[in-house]
Amino acid sequence: MATTILVGAQWGDEGKGKIIDVLSEQADIVVRYQGGNNAGHTVEVGAEKYVLHLIPSGILYPGKLNVIGNGVVVDPIALWDEIEGLRRRRVAVDNNLFVSETAHMVMPYHRLLDEIREEQKGHRKIGTTKRGIGPAYSDKVARTGLRIGDLLAPERFAERLRRKVRENNEIFKAFGHRPMRFQTIYDQYIAIGQKLKPFITDTVTLLNRAVRDNKNILFEGAQGTHLDIDFGTYPFVTSSNATAGGACTGSGIPPNRIDRVVGVMKAYTTRVGEGPFPTELHDEQGTALRETGREFGATTGRPRRCGWFDAVATRYAVMVNGINDLAVTKLDVLDNLPKIKVCVAYKCGRKLWETMPTDIDVLMRCQPVYQEFDGWRCSTRHVLEFDQLPKRARVYLQRIAQLSGARLSIVSVGARREETIFL
Ligand code: GDP
Ligand code: IMO
Ligand code: MG
Repeated sequence: MATTILVGAQWGDEGKGKIIDVLSEQADIVVRYQGGNNAGHTVEVGAEKYVLHLIPSGILYPGKLNVIGNGVVVDPIALWDEIEGLRRRRVAVDNNLFVSETAHMVMPYHRLLDEIREEQKGHRKIGTTKRGIGPAYSDKVARTGLRIGDLLAPERFAERLRRKVRENNEIFKAFGHRPMRFQTIYDQYIAIGQKLKPFITDTVTLLNRAVRDNKNILFEGAQGTHLDIDFGTYPFVTSSNATAGGACTGSGIPPNRIDRVVGVMKAYTTRVGEGPFPTELHDEQGTALRETGREFGATTGRPRRCGWFDAVATRYAVMVNGINDLAVTKLDVLDNLPKIKVCVAYKCGRKLWETMPTDIDVLMRCQPVYQEFDGWRCSTRHVLEFDQLPKRARVYLQRIAQLSGARLSIVSVGARREETIFL
């Protein structure tokens, strides 16, 4: 496996958690490199279902090391809750989970700022997860953030926190919210810091030693290419680099040590939150996809917007991530459809777009150009080999991989580990 980056090729929720779980078997270390607990990665093992937000999905495989890298924004309280939740379910989290001392923290004022900013935007809101992700990354870039390591240096933490609380209370006052108390936050965070102490370490050195020792490292991307701060449908994006480049800056592993990039994409498309979505279905077909695919957010429970597969979007993802291998998930959701559509290009006025327009106003006006496929109309749930899939399903899969421009390597036909076909 060597060093593999796994990224979402669409707008998130592609089934990254499931594919990570399947690939974890061959990995020594699984690393999260960006995002925070806005992510919700579902893994089904036997009859058990886990939703992971900050902890890498590799935690469910005994004997694997799991790292929350420097590029992640960590809400320490949410992390502690997740650790405790896993312990209650008898999942081992001691000596196999490490968090970077230089990862920035999500603070209570970030969550409130996230809410206020969304409120202020009114109908132009982004539809964030309200986990404080944007404001936490803003502070990081503005060089006023607090990092996990600061919890272990109480004086430094106090000084910086005092300044941030004072500054943000001015904003809260202006928007009619109650000010926050320095002491309450300080006490809570210092206490959590002591609990998290055994997990906090220099993950940059840890990971580079692992690279030197030829360990297999698997990067678990969160969100997806079109939610990336640089390559996504700005401003309707998240605040980090969800694309492959983020794996290097978010972990400290240099680019020349990356061997392979795997892109995960659903056999159709979903999006949660606001923003352009050219193949969105507003009719009963969209509703049917949502119901069959159980498309409700793993973090916020919001219904996901559903639509046909968009090859313009995935082609762009293959390009900016350097995707070698594709994992197509949720093929089974299409099992009963008589006709299936794939968007092969966009039309805007008289112009045909085969690449993603970077101007969001153009993208908003784009109409999908579809190729139609006959459905296979039988269950693929128990198929174990690619050759045993119905012919029409194989045609569909090969075509979406070809349009995207990378090799089809994995097909997922159900949420569980066993429901996976390797090519
Ligand atoms: P992630 O954020 O990319 O990890 O994806 P989510 O966990 O948010 O959403 C994917 C959902 O689809 C989860 O409920 C998974 O259990 C489920 N899932 C993953 N792969 C398959 C599949 O091949 N078929 C079906 N029916 N469900 C799947
Ligand atoms: P996983 O890792 C799908 C979306 C939000 C919103 C936008 C910005 O499970 O695929 P944020 O809270 O990050 O500031 O919200 O990004 N979003 C996701 N959508 N899957 C996710 O993660 C997401 N994380 C954020 O809905 O539109
Ligand atoms: Mg998700």
